[in-house]
Amino acid sequence: MRRAGKVVREVLELVRGQVKPGVSTFDLEKAAADRLKELGVKAAFKGYHGYPCVLCTSVNDEVVHGIPSPKRVLKQGDIVSVDFGVVVDGYYGDSAITVPVGEIDADSARLLRVTEASLQAGIAAVKPGNTLGDVGAAVQGVVEREGFSVVRDFVGHGIGSQMHEEPQVPNFGRAGQGMKLKAGMVIAIEPMVNAGRPDVMVLEDGWTAVAKDGSRSAHFEHTVAVTAEGARILTD
Ligand code: MF3
Ligand code: CO
Repeated sequence: MRRAGKVVREVLELVRGQVKPGVSTFDLEKAAADRLKELGVKAAFKGYHGYPCVLCTSVNDEVVHGIPSPKRVLKQGDIVSVDFGVVVDGYYGDSAITVPVGEIDADSARLLRVTEASLQAGIAAVKPGNTLGDVGAAVQGVVEREGFSVVRDFVGHGIGSQMHEEPQVPNFGRAGQGMKLKAGMVIAIEPMVNAGRPDVMVLEDGWTAVAKDGSRSAHFEHTVAVTAEGARILTD
């Protein structure tokens, strides 16, 4: 899983470096797909329930599962969430980042900072004996202290020889509740945070989830192993 995670990181950083005004989300898809081909590594998302691409690219009020398109040209001030996974020798890695397009406004910058900090808080709560409620509560606490909201309709997940395994890993919850973490478990923690209300809806394409109130949304994700010493991030 570490090997899968390394590929995920390399490709996400490649994509991050390509984000600028005038680039389309399909240009990002092409860069990622080309690099995967060079590496001989299989994408996790393409073909998953019929999903057509290797990346999910979700712009501004799009929360998750935006489909790359040559018509979606990024412009100065946008934010774009890039979600990506691969499978190496039967094991999965999954990670997401949200990237500013050129200069962005202060509230958007704060949304990105807080969402990434909430992921780190969730990771810090990962250790044997802690619960999934501890993880969710840690994420939610960071988000709500800043006046943002945690999306409820999508959650993190166990990950291993499948991209999505038990258990579900909510980005909200109560400390002490839910399944106990044990060394050897691997989970993907992936807060999706809206600047406004938490409600989302899925567009007619059947994939793209957007914030109902049109507010901006950010998404950060890591694949994280539970070890006796605490969390080990596999996608850094
Ligand atoms: N990255 C998403 C997750 O973390 C999965 C993308 S859904 C797909 O669960 F259909 F696009 F693959
Ligand atoms: Co995931």
